Amino acid sequence: MSEITLLIHDLDAGVSPAGNGPQRGREFGRLEIHSPASIAISGGRITAVGPPEEVLRDFPPGSDCETVDGRGRAAVPGLVDCHTHAAFLGDRAGEFELRSQGASYEEIHASGGGILSTVEATRRGSEGDLKSALVKHLGWMLHHGTMTAEVKSGYGLDLETELKMLRAIHAANDSQPVDLHPTFLGAHTLPPEFGSAEEYVEFVIRDVLSRAAHLAEAADVFLERGSLEVGESRRYLEACREYGLALRLHADQFSERGGIPLAVELGARSVDHLEATGEQGARLLARSNVAAVLLPACGLFLGLPNPPARTLIEEGAIVALATDFNPGSSFCSSLPIAMNLGCTRLGLSPAQALCAATANAAHVLGLDGETGRLAPGYRADILILEDPDWRYLAYHLGGDHFAARIKSGQVLELLVGNGRDLPSLE
Ligand code: NIG
Ligand code: FE
Repeated sequence: MSEITLLIHDLDAGVSPAGNGPQRGREFGRLEIHSPASIAISGGRITAVGPPEEVLRDFPPGSDCETVDGRGRAAVPGLVDCHTHAAFLGDRAGEFELRSQGASYEEIHASGGGILSTVEATRRGSEGDLKSALVKHLGWMLHHGTMTAEVKSGYGLDLETELKMLRAIHAANDSQPVDLHPTFLGAHTLPPEFGSAEEYVEFVIRDVLSRAAHLAEAADVFLERGSLEVGESRRYLEACREYGLALRLHADQFSERGGIPLAVELGARSVDHLEATGEQGARLLARSNVAAVLLPACGLFLGLPNPPARTLIEEGAIVALATDFNPGSSFCSSLPIAMNLGCTRLGLSPAQALCAATANAAHVLGLDGETGRLAPGYRADILILEDPDWRYLAYHLGGDHFAARIKSGQVLELLVGNGRDLPSLE
């Protein structure tokens, strides 16, 4: 039996999505609640979760075991943000101001601003600059409970900068606690050097993909008017699939134009956004194995209509929540805020919001069985709330509730308790 290195003792509650793999249909939002609970950890993995006296009896802590007092607190799995654009340089505060005065995101994009202004800033900086910016953003995300995150490229749209972005994501992964999963978003939009989306996609497939594929786990496309249409998206995604990349799509954000049928046809991991999805699209997606990733902070930030979340849930879709953290459409690094909006605007229950930002988000990243649950064998990524009621995580809009963050079995900080400092992120 392996030695217990960390014991979280006497929690008021240990709360986890029940079961294995993604939750959907009647299972979505089913929790396993141990109350009271202790959690035994060995190295980076959870060994046991259960009634304190049983855990103590079966896994007695040795003299080197660290102990965290869980009294008056609840524990949930570390959060998984499965859709972010956290690697970028510059900002879009000026664009935010314009939008506050009535300009629309699509108008700004059409006039060469928006995504393309972040492309310009990201092309100008060095790989080191980009890594430092990403590490700073990951510090914000970790503060809000994110312990695993997807990070997309897509602000380069040329060979050099797309590779620079992916390398910066790897470098950041090695230098701070949040586990990163890079996605190649080579088809984010049409850069100014190209006359048509077809020409640009041919360039990406010919000159960028083979090198980017080694640095990424998934590929993504922005299928939308003003970016890529369905034909170019199919061409790009099929080529990416040949390299073994999992497929993701930004689709139905402003208009429905074939993203869901394409995702289902290609066996994609997910379709993300869905603010413009109608009943038929929602049903098709719900009956497939393609996950629906909802991004309510983006919807709020841009004033978009809500996606058909209730239909998706009732028809059995695999639903995940993410921040879509980026400088233009969702400058929000907090998954608990996305969870709150999932409850207040999309009709998820707090339990569904928790599952959507843990187990189901882990599924979107291909991490079933690895993270997103408090269960034996899972990575010991654990958030300890200051409150005994786990629902505070979604309930307190913009709240700051963590007594401790435990990443792969390491206590990163204990704000209440022994008062350790945050580790240096550099
Ligand atoms: O998910 N929709 C396309 N891409 C991002 C926005 C990127 C940006 O505006 O910089 C999104 O909303
Ligand atoms: Fe996005």
